[in-house]
Amino acid sequence: MTTSSQIALVTGSSGGIGAATAERLHAAGSVVIGCDRTAPDSRPKWLADFRELDVTDEKSVRETVAGIRAEYGAIDVLVHAAGILGNEPDLLTTSSSEFARVMAINATGAFSVLREVGLVMQAQRSGSMVAVASVAAKEARRAYVPYNASKAAVLNICWSLALELGPDNVSVNCVCPGPVNTAMWAQLATRAGGGDPKGDRRARQARAAQIPMGRFAEPEEVAATIAFLTDPANRYLTGLSLDVAGGARLGMGS
Ligand SMILES: NC(=O)c1ccc[n+]([C@@H]2O[C@H](COP(=O)([O-])OP(=O)(O)OC[C@H]3O[C@@H](n4cnc5c(N)ncnc54)[C@H](O)[C@@H]3O)[C@@H](O)[C@H]2O)c1
Repeated sequence: MTTSSQIALVTGSSGGIGAATAERLHAAGSVVIGCDRTAPDSRPKWLADFRELDVTDEKSVRETVAGIRAEYGAIDVLVHAAGILGNEPDLLTTSSSEFARVMAINATGAFSVLREVGLVMQAQRSGSMVAVASVAAKEARRAYVPYNASKAAVLNICWSLALELGPDNVSVNCVCPGPVNTAMWAQLATRAGGGDPKGDRRARQARAAQIPMGRFAEPEEVAATIAFLTDPANRYLTGLSLDVAGGARLGMGS
């Protein structure tokens, strides 16, 4: 790892993957600024700074990014991990308002954050971005259709931005986790199990059984991949959508 005093912005820094990534980047020598719509109870020692930010508020996104650029002089790394699961599993039972809500946070939020930071990185002719999509971006599943669609949008936004920012020495990549042990999967398991702890356990076991490695990821494992992709030594890696999924998509359909 060659990371040295990079200025790193992490959205979703109060959640499982965002927090683990912020901690990992801090340990590698970065100055980490966290953003989330929910402030942590007390600021963790790995965050140099924290900005409360709802990624659906375009004006706040613009002002927050500009403020960080002005205060710290650069934004070398962006990790965009903010996101929600949503409430509706099937397309035919999803209301327009629920679809729009999930798309606003996951897709339009990613668009705003990546665009604003992309303009900063283009001007400085240097930078690395990673957005957290999901294996759900690449699969049809009878589960959380608005979520899956929103993550497919994140993936395509990253590919487009990798094309646009390649000439400016900026890498843009996506990580696509399978199930990860965070609050988001806890919410999913609770719903699947109907609030019964046994049902919750069964939902986790059923999902784990679909994964060659037979288990969920820990957020630190996703963070390790993100740290690799944002290491300046790996700047030539761009436009990737890297599954961090224990082989979850192998043998699909067989
Ligand atoms: N947990 C999984 O199994 C899994 C799998 C694949 C992808 N992901 C993705 O990883 C990312 C991180 O999720 P996690 O598992 O750490 O879940 P999490 O719920 O622990 O963290 C998500 C964070 O995003 C923040 N957030 C939500 N809406 C926001 C908004 N409008 N503005 C700013 N912040 C907002 C939340 O406050 C929370 O801190 C998400 O994008 C999620 O879709 C998670």
